[in-house]
Amino acid sequence: MPAYAVIGGQWGDEGKGKVIDYLAGDVDSVVRYAGGNNAGHTVVNEKGTFQLHLVPSGICWPDAYGIIGNGVVVDPDVLVHELTEISGRGIDTSRLYISERAHVIMPYHVVLDRYEEEARGAAAIGTTGRGIGPAYMDKTGRMGVRVGDLLDWDALVPMVTKILEHKNAMITKIYGGEALALTDVLDKCKLWAEQLKPFAQPTEQLIQDLLAQNKRVLLEGAQGTLLDIDHGSYPYVTSSSPSIGGACTGLGLNPQAISGVLGVFKAYSTRVGGGPMPSELHDGEGEAIREKAQEFGVTTGRARRIGWFDGVASKYSQLVNGFTGLVLTRLDILDGFKSVKVCVAYEVNGERLDRFPANTGLLAQCKPVFEELPGWDEPTASVTELSQLPKNALAYVRRIEELVGCRAQIISTGPRRDETIQVEPVFL
Ligand code: IMP
Repeated sequence: MPAYAVIGGQWGDEGKGKVIDYLAGDVDSVVRYAGGNNAGHTVVNEKGTFQLHLVPSGICWPDAYGIIGNGVVVDPDVLVHELTEISGRGIDTSRLYISERAHVIMPYHVVLDRYEEEARGAAAIGTTGRGIGPAYMDKTGRMGVRVGDLLDWDALVPMVTKILEHKNAMITKIYGGEALALTDVLDKCKLWAEQLKPFAQPTEQLIQDLLAQNKRVLLEGAQGTLLDIDHGSYPYVTSSSPSIGGACTGLGLNPQAISGVLGVFKAYSTRVGGGPMPSELHDGEGEAIREKAQEFGVTTGRARRIGWFDGVASKYSQLVNGFTGLVLTRLDILDGFKSVKVCVAYEVNGERLDRFPANTGLLAQCKPVFEELPGWDEPTASVTELSQLPKNALAYVRRIEELVGCRAQIISTGPRRDETIQVEPVFL
């Protein structure tokens, strides 16, 4: 059976956790391919509310495997804490596997993330401070420590000793900070090796085996396409590839195995951290959406920036990912608005722009061209059939489909699994 990807179409926080939990009942495996514990996926089901940062969101289904692929960066302390917590709440975690090729977020990565962010001053990216960027820098700089390395103590000790000399030089000489003690870092590594050993696997093989056995695999994206290191609003991006290409490299999966690419979009836009956001609202409407939707980060608690749906950015996201279906989330948040808006183009120096620009300075100058649509009074909250949607809400969905260039397959009308409209089947 083929693989299906669930990808953030915007700046992350689109509600992928709910969507994956909803779909995971019909799959055999849920696989994370990028990012780390900068992600925060909320899952609400009959067992309660779960805030997951590293463990794939399908874990709540008893028969699904959870796999953390090679493209993910793993903070073992966070992972072990998360596993302890969810298993304490009755979730079976014995089907979790971690790629031995996944890179480890080391203690110095967290320290450097904060120093580097401080050093950026006014140009700060607003990172989550979890060591994500420095861990990916070491991956491409070929001085990373991988999960498999933790399990080879004799090779690990000289490797970490050498790397730490370099990291301590940066911490002390560039940032004037305090050096980390080698014994502390090695003690951590020893503990992590014991903790991660039962989970470490060649996951690329595991995924191939599942597919060969006709099992359905769901690829779980983290963050969103507009935060992609290559395709996002660089440098205000994360350090991995949340878009579809990242799913292939982050798992060792060939593109032919992927039959469906679902793009998850919120009915409006949000962004956390720095960087341009052309459709951002700076008025009471934005505040009203934030309060109603409780748009505060799962990982950092920061208030999310709010904007109307950005059709230009979304079309670009569709171009990068080739979505085969759209998932529209949080439609219910717009219930009761007199009118709603969508951004259909940008304007810069009096000229209309229909394309999401690569130049972030130019993106920062883009003013939104809004189209206003009538709102709806009757609730969409908890609606489960397309035919029950108020006429204007349906018209809004249709307009978003036109802007993205893709049909809606799922509409989410609330946080719970059952608050979902399955417009058309996702799985072939
Ligand atoms: P980092 O991934 O911690 O390096 O942060 C880089 C940028 O990505 C910052 O603007 C973060 O706020 C943003 N970011 C990282 N992870 C998420 C996420 O899961 N949702 C939304 N924004 C995120």
